[in-house]
Amino acid sequence: MDGADDRPGQMTTPVTALDADAMPSLRCRACGMQYPAQQAPGRCSCGGLLDLDIAVPSGLDRDVFTRRLASHDLLDRSGVWRYREFLVPLPSPVIVTRPEGNTNLYPVPRIAQWAGCAQLWLKHEGENPTGSFKDRGMTVAVSHARWIGARAVACASTGNTSASVAAYAALAGLPAVVFLPEGKITAAKLGQAIAYGARIVQIRGDFDAAMRLVQEASAAFGLYLLNSVNPFRLLGQQTIMFEMLHQLAWDAPDWIVLPGGNLGNTAAFGQALVRAHAAGLIARLPRLATVQAEGAAPFYAAFQRRFTAFSPVQAETIATAIRIGNPVNYERARDAIVATDGVVTAVSDAEILEAKAMIDRAGIGCEPASAAAVAGLRRLISEGVIDAKSNVVAVLTGHVLKDPETIMAMHQTAAEPSPAWVNRPIVVEPTLAALREVLDALA
Ligand code: F0G
Repeated sequence: MDGADDRPGQMTTPVTALDADAMPSLRCRACGMQYPAQQAPGRCSCGGLLDLDIAVPSGLDRDVFTRRLASHDLLDRSGVWRYREFLVPLPSPVIVTRPEGNTNLYPVPRIAQWAGCAQLWLKHEGENPTGSFKDRGMTVAVSHARWIGARAVACASTGNTSASVAAYAALAGLPAVVFLPEGKITAAKLGQAIAYGARIVQIRGDFDAAMRLVQEASAAFGLYLLNSVNPFRLLGQQTIMFEMLHQLAWDAPDWIVLPGGNLGNTAAFGQALVRAHAAGLIARLPRLATVQAEGAAPFYAAFQRRFTAFSPVQAETIATAIRIGNPVNYERARDAIVATDGVVTAVSDAEILEAKAMIDRAGIGCEPASAAAVAGLRRLISEGVIDAKSNVVAVLTGHVLKDPETIMAMHQTAAEPSPAWVNRPIVVEPTLAALREVLDALA
């Protein structure tokens, strides 16, 4: 998949390779300034976020998506590029795909009962190639980076973005630099980024400091920025919604619940649902519920003020993936909540761990940030915000193996009396007598 011949100026394959006419341009949300898609999408010169001026596809045949499920073509196999009518018409030779997506939608009646709703599905984005939803954004943005001839890619991260950037950059043959808050990401995530060969720069500061620095560094040194300020990333993440709706035979749920950190998914899901509705794929718009950790909840605070003001916070939570105090996608996410008549809530670390234990014990498992979605669902039902009769999809954003440190801590150091879900490994002598005692206690 060498994309050298497909860069602007030397293109041999026209951009119609993916059934569209041309690349949409970038438009600043704040001042309306337009930029061509052939440049790296940082921020507008006024500081505003750049969105893609992208059309809603018309005349869609839903069956085409189902037919692609039976194909062996990598772009059809990808749970991102399968929905390419909603994406950008990059020429197929530049596309870098594992292929990602194809994540399961699990019916979970026991967790539904625990949370208090009629029907609950878990859409497990931890089943992506690097173990988080980030891969869906990365296949689009890294492909775009190749198409424009980017020299190197960069991101700041609480861990998952860096793992995904490192993998997709390696696949694309591009150097990657990742900015991480020192000591604040899990060993599993750091290990992935190291293994895939990214240059790791640890920042003496938190994620918000790393995010600020990578934006400055991208502008100063011409690095292609792969954080979710990049609208190509968000376009890829929209496919979580398209694939989920496809799995539900386009019968939209009442609510979609998700964790919120940098708020890229909240923004992307809102855009996806509005587009799916406008394209006639679904008959009604589901409502979005974004859940933050109490110690990292600036979006929740803004929601409580009816979005009249936004103030960053100093973030702290056990859910390190969403330990973010100054989300870059605030404005886009606000629009998504408004457009879907959505809500925002916050949950404590204790609620997150309890929900994680429920999801883990169901045999599915997820990382703490993902469990915030289910904890938030339970809270919103108990408060009467979400009706108990609702049909809900909760999005699990990361794999259970992303954070073994928290698993060990929650099971080994839980306060007494320990919760029923606590599962402490035991050590015995290698004898049948010792084992009998253990097995008798199982009954
Ligand atoms: N869940 C997980 C597992 C994440 O890694 C993240 C974000 C989120 C939820 C929040 O999603 O930003 O779209 O609101 N992780 C980023 C990272 C910040 O660097 O890996 P969001």
